[in-house]
This record gives sequence, structure tokens and C-alpha cells, in this order.
Amino acid sequence: MIEIDNLTKIYKLTKKQMQKEKTKESMKVAVEGVSLRAVEGEIYGLLGPNGAGKTTTLRCLATLLQPTEGTITVDGFDTVKEPDEVRKRIGFLTNEIKLDAQFTVEYLFDFFGKLHGVEKDILESRKAELFDYFGITEFKNKKIEELSTGMKQKAAIAVSLVHNPGIIIFDEPTSGLDIVTARLVTDYLKKLRDEGRLVIISTHIMSEAERLCDRVGVIIDGRKVCDAPLPEIYDKYNTDNLEDAFFEMYKANHREVL
Ligand SMILES: Nc1ncnc2c1ncn2[C@@H]1O[C@H](COP(=O)(O)OP(=O)(O)O)[C@@H](O)[C@H]1O
Ligand SMILES: [Mg+2]
Repeated sequence: MIEIDNLTKIYKLTKKQMQKEKTKESMKVAVEGVSLRAVEGEIYGLLGPNGAGKTTTLRCLATLLQPTEGTITVDGFDTVKEPDEVRKRIGFLTNEIKLDAQFTVEYLFDFFGKLHGVEKDILESRKAELFDYFGITEFKNKKIEELSTGMKQKAAIAVSLVHNPGIIIFDEPTSGLDIVTARLVTDYLKKLRDEGRLVIISTHIMSEAERLCDRVGVIIDGRKVCDAPLPEIYDKYNTDNLEDAFFEMYKANHREVL
């Protein structure tokens, strides 16, 4: 189970960042007072436009960032106080962390498997299953830098699942993928959910959230403005699609940046 309680993350901007953002503020509130709960057997979708705070939230959850305020627990373990226990239980995928370009896919899979203490024969069978599913087998001896964007992403997904985590945290997992590869990825996430795992993804693609997620949390300007199973959202906004509902939420909650 994931429990995020009142998460706030404030970045301190460098002079360069302030110039780039054309702001005089030296602090950026990326996430403000976000609480959410996601449980095993569901795909929870964190939905929001670019800059809403999705990646920041997921990085805090994955122990890569420390919250400014608030607490996060994963299966009861605190992400700040017991990060190692949390890391054992999660598989994390993000666009910002790239696999080392000069290594082969198989080398990296084995390396992270050993790092997680996965036994050799289990590692081999998991590798066979994941490489086969994602069509990686014939590319397994290629260096990451030699792979196409789609194949790189599939390799990153396989590596993130090497230790068979119960909780899967994927930040924009289909971003930049063609439709066939994207479908392969979303079908796999459903399979993981159906096996009883907890999957949490971020996306800015409404149709993806619609097809994939059991529950959606909408985040706008760092604040969570809605959190419900899809049918409840449709009901509340009297619509049959997420895009209409999203725009209603956006109009009501977006604060113009001065
Ligand atoms: N390292 C950082 N330093 C300063 N500001 C950041 C940093 N990372 C993200 N931000 C800012 O925080 C806000 C939320 O970013 P992010 O979590 O990446 O949003 P999303 O993933 O929803 O697009 C944005 O305004 C972004 O510019
Ligand atoms: Mg992001």
C-alpha cells in the first residue's frame, strides 16, 4: 500500500533557473499538500498537465527526493526513515534516469538483479520472461546507445522489474513510444495489476488514463483536485469521458501565474 500524507515539495531555484523561468521567486512550490492512498490490485493514475508536479510526487515516493513537508509510506515503511525497505518493494521508471549507454541490456539486467540479491536461476527465468514479452531477446547483447527509443524504454522497464517488485511506480511509461509498443507496456501493467500488484503511473494523456486506470488522481498546479474511481468522476461531472471532466477541473482550479 502507498500512503502519501500531506506532501509538499518546495525546490530552491538557482539564479540560472530563476532566469530561465523568468521569475524573481527563489522558491518553487512544486507539490502542495497532496495526500493519496493506492492499494494492491489497482492501477492508480496521477493525471495532470506538464509541470503539475507528477514527477516530483513520484520521485518523493521512490525515495529519490525528500519531501519538504508530509510523510510517505510504502507497505508501512517511511520513505525518509527506511528508504532501503521501500526500494526493495518498488520498481521505479522515469524518463529522467537513463540506463548507462555503454552497457548491454543483459549486463544491466544482471547487474541490477545482483544488486537486488536475486538468485541466479530466478534471475534467468525472469529475464527470459521479460525479454521475451518485450521483444528484447535479440537485442540483449546490444549496448543501450545502439537501441531505438522504444527499445531503450522497454529495456528500462525490464530492468526496473528485475526484482519482481510488488509496487510498480512508472512515470509517463508510454511517453515517446509508438502505439504498438505503448500497448505492449500498458497490457503488461494490466497483467501486473491482475496479479494483485499495485501499479501507480503518471500520465498527461487522458485516453490512456481512461483505458488503464482504476482510480485517477488529478493534480493541477501542485495540488490534487480530484481522486476517485473513473465512474465516479464521470458521474460527478455528468460526462462519459475524462477530458470533459478534466477541463471542468482545470477551469475551476488553475491559478494564472502572474
Ligand atoms: N529540480 C527542480 N528544480 C526546480 N524546479 C523544479 C525541479 N523539478 C521540477 N521543478 C518544477 O516543479 C514543477 C513540477 O514539476 P514536475 O514534478 O516535473 O511536473 P510534471 O511531472 O507534472 O510535469 C514545475 O514547475 C517544474 O518546473
Ligand atoms: Mg513529469
